[in-house]
Amino acid sequence: MQLILLGPPGAGKGTQASFLEQEHGLAKLSTGDMLRAEVKSGSELGQELQEVMSSGKLVDDSLMISLIRERIAKPDCERGFILDGFPRTLAQAEALTTMLEEVDRRLQHVIELKVDDEALVERISGRYSCAKCGEGYHDSFKLPKQDGVCDKCGSTEFSRRADDNAETVASRLDAYHAQTEPLVAYYRDLGILASVDGMAEMDEVQRQINGIIL
Ligand code: AP5
Repeated sequence: MQLILLGPPGAGKGTQASFLEQEHGLAKLSTGDMLRAEVKSGSELGQELQEVMSSGKLVDDSLMISLIRERIAKPDCERGFILDGFPRTLAQAEALTTMLEEVDRRLQHVIELKVDDEALVERISGRYSCAKCGEGYHDSFKLPKQDGVCDKCGSTEFSRRADDNAETVASRLDAYHAQTEPLVAYYRDLGILASVDGMAEMDEVQRQINGIIL
């Protein structure tokens, strides 16, 4: 199964993609994570990416398309995958349709997570993750079971994303509304769009998604 989680920054795409990965054995392909790994590597490309990402703008389409083209050819994608953060423009969506056709695959579902802009700012500003294994947490909505200790790997080091500040969030939201939201109509016209209430609690969102894909 191939599916897309579509929604604004902080809508819960990464959270739900992790649930789907664990529950259904699908590969989770997060373009944001891929780009942050390149930034962390300290490469020249990483430095250029960091500038774009910290401005809240989108990275160039051709780079993103070739990144995904290479990634979906890897063996762990054979059973299917969840796209988190891709496509984000019409050009990326059209390229994805073509690259899947070339390998005789297709998208089964595009799931839109609907969340109010005001809630997104609170979600993003409270988000942090384990510096060692990347497990995600939130100051109000998802605390570690033991204060200051990662549930998954026991590390006591946590970090916050450089682009999770009020100014960058505003420009990420603008980019979403201008460049990504039109994909809702694109996938509705293809007959594969379903929307869920992303304002609901995490478990409820997960239940709604399972209701669509199972
Ligand atoms: P990316 O990393 O993809 O960021 P994003 O789309 O802005 O999405 P987020 O990761 O911020 O949010 P999310 O929806 O995954 O929410 P999460 O589950 O963490 O992209 C970063 C940058 O990279 C972009 O700005 C761009 O520059 C570049 N980029 C990436 N892909 C690109 C592409 N294809 N083309 C061009 N450029 C690209 O949840 C947020 C918080 O809320 C968490 O703390 C979570 O615990 C909490 N939460 C989740 N669900 C709920 C719930 N139901 N109730 C309460 N809290 C919840």
